[in-house]
Order: sequence, then structure tokens, then C-alpha cells
Amino acid sequence: MKRNKAVAAWMMTLVVLALVLAGLGCSKEKGKVTLGFSQIGAESEWRTANTKSIEETAKAEGIELKLSDAQQKQENQIKAIRSFIAQKVDVIAFSPVVETGWEPVLREAKEAKIPVILTDRAVDTKDDSLWVTFIGSDFVEEGRRAAKWLVEKTKDRTDTVNIVELQGTVGSAPAIDRKKGFEEVIKDKPQLKIIRSQTGDFTRAKGKEVMEAFLKAEGKNIHVLYAHNDDMAIGAIQAIEEAGLRPGQDILIISIDAVKGAFEAMMAGKLNVTVECSPLLGPQLMSAVKDLMAGKTLPKRIVTEEGIFPMETAAQEFPKRKY
Ligand code: AHR
Repeated sequence: MKRNKAVAAWMMTLVVLALVLAGLGCSKEKGKVTLGFSQIGAESEWRTANTKSIEETAKAEGIELKLSDAQQKQENQIKAIRSFIAQKVDVIAFSPVVETGWEPVLREAKEAKIPVILTDRAVDTKDDSLWVTFIGSDFVEEGRRAAKWLVEKTKDRTDTVNIVELQGTVGSAPAIDRKKGFEEVIKDKPQLKIIRSQTGDFTRAKGKEVMEAFLKAEGKNIHVLYAHNDDMAIGAIQAIEEAGLRPGQDILIISIDAVKGAFEAMMAGKLNVTVECSPLLGPQLMSAVKDLMAGKTLPKRIVTEEGIFPMETAAQEFPKRKY
């Protein structure tokens, strides 16, 4: 009888031990909400600020963040999402490097009943039940704001204003939309003409390289540079200076993001205007994750509020900038 009791007690201890070990082996921290986030990479000052905002807010909100850097490759993002599904995270979020090609992996997440939040960039899918909400900027509006500034700036000119455009990553939402918004506004202004347009992949190095090629082909024929982000504009500024021209004067420069580097360039008189695109999406993302976990229904679209900063306001605004 005594022996049976001792065996039963041992069995119970073993069961408890097994449960504890299983708990420890599990990648999720007990009681914590787990968020798998697939980041695009570290291609720009904007992206670095975006990653920092997500990391800091997750920590502050007690959300366990599994962050994966895709190095600007869609295949890496797809792998990361599959690994989050396998790890059974509570929520998946990602900033899609390009718009298309996400259906299969998003379907897998849906089948696993893991909600997906899009941040910063949208996807182009027929079935929008594959993601719960999209948090980020209105890129088309950013393009319009950039063009409206140019229209106002050149309103007294009667000659043709030749524009070169540095586009973002091919197939990405901001590249497509910023081009669209800009063209929509200038289409009724025949004197504003885009003479060259090429991708600079959102990086300084590529921005410089492509601007060098533009300058080689067009020389002093270029009056305006429209860059889809500040990093490419900053790279292009170097190319313009190396070509013996004055950025901000000989060539008007318009870009998007409003990172600190752009304010420095504006204060030096080398960049004329930057349209704001805020990377500080951490607070909105974490609040969406918490709402989801509380069973709330999220709005399909959460738009970030943003402004525009011409160089005349740079010195005054610079101390207030958070990224
Ligand atoms: O998707 C947002 C864009 O991506 C930012 O404008 C750019 O700087 C970044 O790399």
C-alpha cells in the first residue's frame, strides 16, 4: 500500500516536472503576448528609427517581440512569417518590402488563426481578410504634397522646369504611391516635366550613383530633383556637389521622410523641402496588438498624421525632431 503511494507520488512529480520543462522549452514567455515582426531591413535613416520605435514600445508595453531583419528581400520576409507561424506567436506584423506576392503565406497565417497587421507599407491582395489592419502613412498624399510645394515654388516661371525623379524600391508601395501622387498634381502643369526617373532603392549609395548618371546625361538641364526619400536625396546632394553645382540653388531638391539628416541638409541650404513620413509606428502597433488580444475589432486602416517642412522652418523645427 505504502509502496503504491510512493510510486503515485513519484509519477505525479514526473508529470509536474515534464510540464515545467515543456513550458521552459517553449519559445513563448508565459503570460506575455508574443509579436513576430518582420522588418524590411536597415536601408535608410527612416527604417532604423522605425525599428527602434517598435523595439522600445514593445519593451515598454511588456510585449515579447521576435524581430527579424529581411535585408530587403521578400523571400526572407516570407521565411520569417512562416517561422512565426511555426512558433505560434499571438500576432504577426510586417512591413512588406514590395506590394505583391503575399497571398500564400498570409493564407497560412490565417489558417493558423494568427492575425496579421501591416505596418508602414501595404500589400496588393484580392482578399483583404488576410490582414486585420494597415497602420501607416498615406504615400499618395505625400507625393501630392511634394508636387504642390513645387507648383507653388515655380508658379511665376514660364520656362520648362525639368525634373529628375529618384524612385524608391521597385514594386514597393511608397515608390508606386509617391510617384502617383506627384504625377497627379503636375499633370495639369505642362511646364513641369519629368525628364528622367529611375530607382535608387531608398539608399544613399544608390541615390548618389543614379544622380551621377542623371547629371552625366543631362548636365545643367536639370532644375529639380524629386527623391522618394531623404537618404537618396542626401546621396544625390553629394553627386551634385561633386559635379560642381549647388544643391538647393542650381537644382531644387524635394524629398520625403523628414529625418534629422534632411533637416541638417536644409539648414546647410542644400535641400529645399522634406515631406514628413513618420517612422514612429511603435505606439500605434503595440496598441493595435493589445486591442486584438482584448478581442476588439480594429479599423481596417490607421493613418499616421504628418506635415511638410520647407528649409525656412528647418532651424526652428530641428530641436523638436525625434528621428
Ligand atoms: O516605407 C517607408 C519608406 O521606406 C521610407 O520613406 C524610406 O526612407 C524607407 O526606406
